[in-house]
Amino acid sequence: MNMPDEKALRHLNASLNLEPLWIPFTANRQFKAAPRLLVSAKDMYYQTHDGRKVLDGIAGLWAVNAGHCRAPIVEAIQKQAATMDYATGFQMHHPAAFQAAEKLVSITPQGMNRVFFTNSGSEAVDTALKIALAYHRVRGEGTRRILIGRERGYHGVGFGGISVGGMVGNRKTFGNMLGSVDHMRHTHDPARNAFSRGQPEHGAELADDLERLVQLHDASNIAAVIVEPVAGSTGVLLPPKGYLQRLRSLCDKYGILLIFDEVITGFGRTGKAFAAQTFGVTPDIITCAKALTNAAVPMGGVVVKQGIYDTFMEKGGPDAAIEFYHGYTYSGHPLAAAAACASLDLFKEEKLFERAAELAPYWENAAHALKGLPHVIDIRTIGLVVGIELQSMADKPGARAFEAFLRAYNKNVLIRTTGDTIALSPPFIIEKAQIDQLFDTVRDVLKTLP
Ligand SMILES: Cc1ncc(COP(=O)(O)O)c(C=O)c1O
Repeated sequence: MNMPDEKALRHLNASLNLEPLWIPFTANRQFKAAPRLLVSAKDMYYQTHDGRKVLDGIAGLWAVNAGHCRAPIVEAIQKQAATMDYATGFQMHHPAAFQAAEKLVSITPQGMNRVFFTNSGSEAVDTALKIALAYHRVRGEGTRRILIGRERGYHGVGFGGISVGGMVGNRKTFGNMLGSVDHMRHTHDPARNAFSRGQPEHGAELADDLERLVQLHDASNIAAVIVEPVAGSTGVLLPPKGYLQRLRSLCDKYGILLIFDEVITGFGRTGKAFAAQTFGVTPDIITCAKALTNAAVPMGGVVVKQGIYDTFMEKGGPDAAIEFYHGYTYSGHPLAAAAACASLDLFKEEKLFERAAELAPYWENAAHALKGLPHVIDIRTIGLVVGIELQSMADKPGARAFEAFLRAYNKNVLIRTTGDTIALSPPFIIEKAQIDQLFDTVRDVLKTLP
């Protein structure tokens, strides 16, 4: 690890002014009173500003699937930065973006082979929703304007994403958001499915909630349904067996596009490249981000079925007309594209998705061994993911899990919490001994939590 020495750390700590920065999704006042800073990283570990080595139990944020600061990715970014830092992507483009797109579609479900690049998961979601609306319009069904999300869904923080999303904390402050939106019921059913290993048994019928919305709005007005195959940010909620298949067939029946938001499930997290492949259901559109570049440079992507792209090309008007009025200054940014190429190569060379699948049973057993510990009311696993749900403290939702996060960090293990669920999702290079360290730390913490 390229670690700052003690003197450099002392200087950094003494010189850092914490005030100007407004930190995202963070209790700023609390943080600034007792800061937690990460200053370097290598493979499975971070170094902290107070000189500790911390095990990364969450792959950065569901993102650093190959581990930190991997040499081929670092070198590819350095080389690209020195060769061409930036080029406009509008009416011009550059080779690395095409190469990244080709490598990406080599691992997406069959037939999903056209890619639009963005800079984040939120932008990927907004782009996917816009593609859905524009697609229907361009092929002459412009009445299809309604976008269907799901309760407890997280689709980033753009106005499109929070509108189809179903997390009250992310929605309540921002007024009406997008107008033509509705939501299906979520699939979380601990009464029937607690302590599931992999997909829960009960709840396929919840997909029929889409029928209810079709009866209400009429299919001719509905453009798309967007779901996370595994909901991450609301605490690792798995699709019941048969649920996604049923959703797929209802979308087919009513001509509705199915969008899988694979921002966290993409790139091996559930044991195959995409959760669509793990669950054997092919959507029409996939959004991805995070591990696309192993998180080394921000990048997102929207992968569509070829027929969607072809429709835009065929009905796009005269040859010189722009077929889709959308894009970002940094779409397919050279540094991001170089990082994506190197990451996708590294995943393949080191067979990291296969490694995630091989480790999954060990991971699952280690996770479910926490059953019976104080406060644990559910454990949900798939691939290299677990959600460990804790009983909330009266009148203080989230406080117990947050305390677990602080205590684990003090024991040199980085975990993540959302509400009162501990969500773990390590890099795929994790060793069994590190899986043990991760769960042993969580076990120790749970035993002493208030
Ligand atoms: C399913 C899903 N969609 C979208 C996003 C938003 O991605 P970003 O934070 O890169 O905008 C996230 C982020 O965690 C996510 O989990």
